[in-house]
Amino acid sequence: MTKFSPTEVYKDRKVFLIGSTGFLGKVTLSMLLHRFPNVGRVYITVRARSPEESETRFWNNVITAPPFDPLRERYGDALDGFIRDKVVVVNGDIAEENLGFTEEEAQRIAGDLDVIINSAGNVTFNPTLESGLRTNVVGTQNVIAFAKRMKRPALVHISTCFVAGNRSGAVWENDDVLGYFPRKHELKGVEFSVDAEIRDCAKMSERARAEAKDAMMAAHFREQARQRLDEEMRDADDPDALGLAVARERKVWTRNRLTELGIERAKFWGWPNIYTYAKALGEQLVAAETGIVRSIVRPSIVESARSYPFPGWNEGFTTTAPIIFMALKGQRQIPANEKLILDITPVDLVSSVMLAVAAQACVAEPKLVYQAATGAANPNNMERIISLVGLFRRQQELEKNDGLRLFREISARFEPFRVSAERFDATSLPMMNNAAKKVSSLLDKAKPRWGGGRYEGVINRMKQTVDRVEEQTREAKEAFEMFLPFTVENAYVFRSDNVRALFESIREDEQQLLTWNPETFDWYDYWMNIHMPGLKKWVLPTLEEEMRA
Ligand SMILES: NC(=O)c1ccc[n+]([C@@H]2O[C@H](COP(=O)([O-])OP(=O)(O)OC[C@H]3O[C@@H](n4cnc5c(N)ncnc54)[C@H](OP(=O)(O)O)[C@@H]3O)[C@@H](O)[C@H]2O)c1
Repeated sequence: MTKFSPTEVYKDRKVFLIGSTGFLGKVTLSMLLHRFPNVGRVYITVRARSPEESETRFWNNVITAPPFDPLRERYGDALDGFIRDKVVVVNGDIAEENLGFTEEEAQRIAGDLDVIINSAGNVTFNPTLESGLRTNVVGTQNVIAFAKRMKRPALVHISTCFVAGNRSGAVWENDDVLGYFPRKHELKGVEFSVDAEIRDCAKMSERARAEAKDAMMAAHFREQARQRLDEEMRDADDPDALGLAVARERKVWTRNRLTELGIERAKFWGWPNIYTYAKALGEQLVAAETGIVRSIVRPSIVESARSYPFPGWNEGFTTTAPIIFMALKGQRQIPANEKLILDITPVDLVSSVMLAVAAQACVAEPKLVYQAATGAANPNNMERIISLVGLFRRQQELEKNDGLRLFREISARFEPFRVSAERFDATSLPMMNNAAKKVSSLLDKAKPRWGGGRYEGVINRMKQTVDRVEEQTREAKEAFEMFLPFTVENAYVFRSDNVRALFESIREDEQQLLTWNPETFDWYDYWMNIHMPGLKKWVLPTLEEEMRA
């Protein structure tokens, strides 16, 4: 079989990268320009209120970011010229028809393209149902319609391995995509259709909005609004203030209701959250398009770069960072299933897969699904990960120069350890959270009913402290609970056979340009010397600031 050369494929090709301002998008854009400088043109979306603002955002916040360091090293002062020559910044929002372009713009851009890579996504686990569907589903529909304007429509869509939902065992790349839902084997004879879901979700949202206008609900919002204004020592009889407060109550209620309904729906079909449900709908839309060249890349959990742009580069904290952060801060019990593989893939490997699949899509018909996952080739289980986090924490504590040595040594010994979900519920954050809730309600009862008095001030202050504990433990508990499907409940083995075969088909002399080598990883080295130092440098300080805010 003749091997393929991504360098030859990318020569003079026109690529459209959507989502280029994100974690994956920036690394992919930088890698494309660095490894294939002969690429014809790269259109990228940078969302803003105007085309001028898109340009400003790109030049001030995107190209200046660390993922572009290798290009800065190579081109120095000539980088601006190189970028102006290769990159076209456009202001596109995929949730809008034509991605927000005028008819002429859409036709001009699409007519110039060889391949689209759609890396745009709303990665919040549980947004409202509407906003969860906006980018991940409606956006995907719009990107498909846009791709159909191309001379030879070719689309690489970025999904996630976790569309597998709540189940365990091997997940193969050639498993059915269309009509899949995780409870398929349980709900015998039930059909799942992406079109019906989109229709029914829209109806559900309409019903929730109508419910929020119901007379009884209106009275309820009014009562709550008056109560809030009283608490804030504002005039509840001022019609303007009351009107605004009622609107706010209605908005909050509708938002919560739409999230609740979305979670309920996702869980019914077997997905752990709205994100994975919406991503599954998105990729089913792509799979249904048989008349175009299309392929789905499913990364597992995307984490710190192994080598590109440099070891340890990471951004954002929707993945393992919150748990690692809490463990490093002293949360000792981590709910986990010791045998479960936590499937982590370094961002540069994921970008390599995206670029290899996109190159294929320019000249051939790639496979429908590629899973960029490491677990089948080189499993890394939770027990080991938690012990490595503990080891890293111990090293950090011992290296600190502040405080008493004895205290440091004692603190270093309080390592995180794995517990079952039941034990975690009974003894850790959920228990502390319940205790704080109980104390808070006791303090409410203890307030002198006759009002005033010097005890009330003391009790109020105590209650504020307890409420803070309640809030913090609730947030921490929610962070852990959100990850339970991935750390305790579902033991997946994501197969990456298509990815391996694709990389084997790349010419030997080009295999250093796009890398897929999870079997060679030394996970100890990755966690201790790359991933955790990377998180410490690039992610945890921001997380700490956010938590303090
Ligand atoms: N990170 C992971 O662990 C992981 C794992 C598996 C799969 N994935 C998938 O990989 C993709 C990229 O994830 P990421 O980690 O890079 O996320 P990210 O850092 O949050 O970036 C998301 C990107 O999508 C863009 N975007 C969002 N809504 C858009 C819209 N309506 N129109 C145009 N652009 C929009 C964002 O633009 P703005 O900057 O303007 O917001 C940003 O560029 C997503 O599809 C995600 O589902 C990620």
